[in-house]
Amino acid sequence: MRLVSPNFKDIFEPNIEIGAFPDGDSNINVLDISACKGCEVTLFHRLYPRQNDTIIELLFILNALKKANAKVTVVAPYLPYARQDKVFLSGEVASAEVVCNLLHEAGCQKLITFDCHFLKKEGEFPYGNLMIKNISLNKELLGCAEAMAKGEKCEIVAPDVGASYLVESQDGKTMKKKRKLYKDGKITYRHIEKMEYQFDVKDKNIVILDDMISTGSTMIKAIECMKKGGAKRVFCAATHGFFLHDSLDKLKSLSDGVFVSDTIPSPVSKVSIAEKCKEL
Ligand code: R5P
Repeated sequence: MRLVSPNFKDIFEPNIEIGAFPDGDSNINVLDISACKGCEVTLFHRLYPRQNDTIIELLFILNALKKANAKVTVVAPYLPYARQDKVFLSGEVASAEVVCNLLHEAGCQKLITFDCHFLKKEGEFPYGNLMIKNISLNKELLGCAEAMAKGEKCEIVAPDVGASYLVESQDGKTMKKKRKLYKDGKITYRHIEKMEYQFDVKDKNIVILDDMISTGSTMIKAIECMKKGGAKRVFCAATHGFFLHDSLDKLKSLSDGVFVSDTIPSPVSKVSIAEKCKEL
């Protein structure tokens, strides 16, 4: 049995209604709940944008399914809070663990997601109390880059060590990224201090591949490094594209092509997860 949230309507016909009361509280209606009784259910629901709201919506849907004794696998293409799986400062919260445990307690038996930031490899792994299946889109993204380079050879580059797993199978190279410390302020963000690499890029076509483009700072710095090193053309790609602020415009003007998947739909979503979702 397949259940689909309205935020997955680009891939499947929704059969869950999500509305809001005048004060902003969410209201959920799982239209086919009677058909879910005691069944295996695959629930498709995006958790970005509006990550906090969509997590609550998911917990409500899971509650209805728990009461119907359904065995639920959740497909959430991007897992929010995946960047905070560790505690660095006293009093900080490992929010990735909290989210995953909440999903488990609400009745999610397995979470299927794409290029989960803290897993950094494909396969099924327990995390906290939750079983997570992580699927990588690296091959699809690199296939798209090759098509853009029109058959010319490309060097594959990860902009930091965390993204090296995405390029390893293609003999890719990895840059080193050093961030500054957190600054006081409303937005928790560590600016990039420097990026370095020790390989030759002169006259080469380069594809920089990361798991996500958020503020775009990582990609912007990586493109600048490659261009400064004499690269011929530089493409940049990621599984998840948030493109905060004006980063998409900046990346378009700096690079020879920017694209992502539709785990988070965007104007440059060139790799679709639709076929993979249909197989789940
Ligand atoms: C970091 O470890 C991630 O893999 C990305 O490189 C990072 O989150 C991208 O963020 P931004 O676009 O803000 O540099």
